[in-house]
Formats: sequence, structure tokens, C-alpha cells
Amino acid sequence: MVTSVSQNKRVVSGMRPTGKLHLGHYHGVLKNWIKLQHEYECIFFVVDWHALTTHYENSRIIKENVWEVVIDWLAAGINPGSAHICIQSWIPEVAELHLLLSMITPLGWLERVPSYKDQQEKLKELDLATYGFLGYSALQAADILLYKASYVPVGEDQVAHIEIAREIARRFNHIYGREPDFNEIAEVSVNKMGKKNAKIYRELRRKYQEQGDAAALEVAQALLDEQQNISMGDRERLLGYLEGSGRIILPVPEVLLTEDSRLPGLDGQKMSKSYHNTIMLREDLDQVEAKIRTMQTDPARVRRTDPGEPDKCPVWGLHKVYSNDEVKNWVQTGCRSAGIGCLDCKKPLIDAVKKELEPIQAAAKEYEANPKLVESIVREGTEVAREQARETLIEVREAIGLDY
Ligand code: TRP
Ligand code: SF4
Repeated sequence: MVTSVSQNKRVVSGMRPTGKLHLGHYHGVLKNWIKLQHEYECIFFVVDWHALTTHYENSRIIKENVWEVVIDWLAAGINPGSAHICIQSWIPEVAELHLLLSMITPLGWLERVPSYKDQQEKLKELDLATYGFLGYSALQAADILLYKASYVPVGEDQVAHIEIAREIARRFNHIYGREPDFNEIAEVSVNKMGKKNAKIYRELRRKYQEQGDAAALEVAQALLDEQQNISMGDRERLLGYLEGSGRIILPVPEVLLTEDSRLPGLDGQKMSKSYHNTIMLREDLDQVEAKIRTMQTDPARVRRTDPGEPDKCPVWGLHKVYSNDEVKNWVQTGCRSAGIGCLDCKKPLIDAVKKELEPIQAAAKEYEANPKLVESIVREGTEVAREQARETLIEVREAIGLDY
């Protein structure tokens, strides 16, 4: 259901172009995006510049990977009629905002992001002691703040980055949102809403500021959302005036934490290309079947007659995602009593995974055969996102005083 509130909330998220996607991406990210696209205005982009922060020496693979990712998104069900699909580097405004944000971003914030040190340790073969890699979070903040996102759907591992984006937005608003004579200008904006709404706004603002009434704050924010006859600048000023801060030029986004659907890989670890335990969305179905048939089971179950323990078996991890209660009960009892064999146990999974992949693969074939269509989808999505990007930058330049 699309409600009037969610219609003007925007969801923004990005994915690095690492090549063809696997079932871990599908269950961990894409299914969530597919759901969100019906509830909010969504902008999803392939972050090719972020790929460059680590792969600057191997930059030529990025191009192909970008298109593979887009094809998998579309095939999985990201609908270009509902969501805007874009490529980060096609929106040069991202680079300008990144530069401007870099001026106010304290070095310590960037150095303290856990993944900054982690990745340097982990990817020892790459020299990541670069200016660009340090700025990874600031670039991500630009991605998000440029579109004035309300929500950013990400997994746990990205929360620290989004936290920085929030800090940067607050700092920007704090430094540049304080126009001289802010209160007087804000009062003029209040009056533009008309007598009745102005009165309601003042009343709600008083309730919030004097009594900390959070419900009043929400009602007032909704009231501002509904106003047709005030400009974007007035709205930002009034949002800030409401909360007692300056003008809010870059709204502070919120994390929409993607619950960890934890689709394990074939070995029970997290599914990941670097662990070689994936099932790719476009993998040949016979090969998918062979992979599941040969995947590890409870190591204690050497013979068919040995009872097993699902909790020690990677196959069970897949059942948790794919099977209904009836099948799950059948596995639990059958495994522990040695009533079923491991191949019996895998059969319903093989069917479920194939059934899930079939329509995705059929759609992918069509997109693969029609690269012009894919490109035009991305061009259109990028153009829409760019409109917003241009608007934001006009406001940002003006707030800083670079509007000449
Ligand atoms: N850093 C994110 C990742 O590795 C990708 C990303 C870049 C992103 N920009 C973003 C995610 C903006 C959400 C919003 O997954
Ligand atoms: Fe794993 Fe199923 Fe075999 Fe039990 S029966 S060990 S859950 S594959």
C-alpha cells in the first residue's frame, strides 16, 4: 500500500559493481529493495566510483561488472517503472557534493570507520593508503545526501558509514544553515502558509520546544509536507525552525536495517564470492542441482544409518530460508532419527532454488539479448535522479555562498 506519507519519502541505496550477483545478494538485498520500491520512491545506483577506491589498478573490469549488476537487478524484479536505476558516475553532481562535504568532514571521522582499517588489513595486496579510499564514507554520504534520502536500506556492516553520512549532514546544516536573521526570515515563511496553518504550526512548535512533545513535532513535519504554496527553501527553514536548529538543507537520513536473512553459502559460511560457496542467479540449473547435491552435510553423518544434527549442517541453513514448517519438521525428525538420507533432504531444496531461479533467468536472457533496452532504462533512471541532484546542489552552493 502506498500511503501519502511514504510517497514523499525517498529510499536511496547503492551496490558496488562486483560482477554477476548470487543468491546471497538476492535474499540479503534485492528482495528487500523489491518490496521497498512499492512503498517509497526509490533510487538504486551502481557505485562505480566506490569500486575505484579499491580497484583503481584494475579499473577496466568495472564497466562489464556494472552492466552485469544492472541486468541482475532487473531480472530479479527491480522495476524501472517503480524505482530509478542509475550509475553513480553518470551523475557528476555526486563528485561536486563529495568535494564540498570533504571540506567540513573531520579526518578522525573517516579514520574511525571500522571498515577503513579492516579493509586495509584484509586487502593487503592492494595499497589502500590513498586519499580516495579514506574518503569512501564521505563519497557514500554524498550519494545519500544528494537525493535528500529519508531512508537508506543497508545491512549491519554499512551502519557505520550511514552514521557518518548523518553526522556530515548535521554538521553541514549547523555550519551553513544559519542565515543572518534566521528567526525573522523563518517568521515570514510561517506566514506564507496562511493564517490557519501558521497558527497550527506555531502551536505545535511551542509544544515541541517547550514540552518536548515528539508527537507534535511529527504532526508539524507532516503539516509542512502538505503545504503546496511554500517553496523548498521555506520548507527547509521551517523544518529547522521547528526543531530549534538552523535551516535544514541536507535532511539527516535514517538507516532501514535489512534484517539479516542470512542465506548461508554451500559451506555454511556467509555466501560470498571470495569464499567460493555461491550459487549465482544466472548459474546453469543443472550445475545448481549438482552444487546442492554435493554440498557439505553434518560431518558426523558418515553413513546413511548415522543420525545427524540439522544445526550442524549447512543444508539446514538453506531449509530455514526455503522450506515451510512441514518440510522443516520432516527434516528435523528425519535427520535426527536417520529416517531420511541427505539426498532426500536436499531434494525439496533443489526444487525450491530452481523454481526461484527459473523466472529470474528467463528475464535475464531477455535483458542480455537487449543491451540497448538496459542502457535506456539506466539513462532514464539517471536523468530523474540527476534532476534532484541539480536542485540540491543549487541549494548547497547557495547555503555556502557559492551562488555566483
Ligand atoms: N558502501 C556500500 C556497500 O559497500 C555501497 C554504497 C555506496 C551505498 N553508496 C551508498 C549504500 C549509498 C547505500 C547508500 O555496500
Ligand atoms: Fe543435513 Fe539434511 Fe543430511 Fe541432516 S539429513 S545431515 S539436515 S542434509
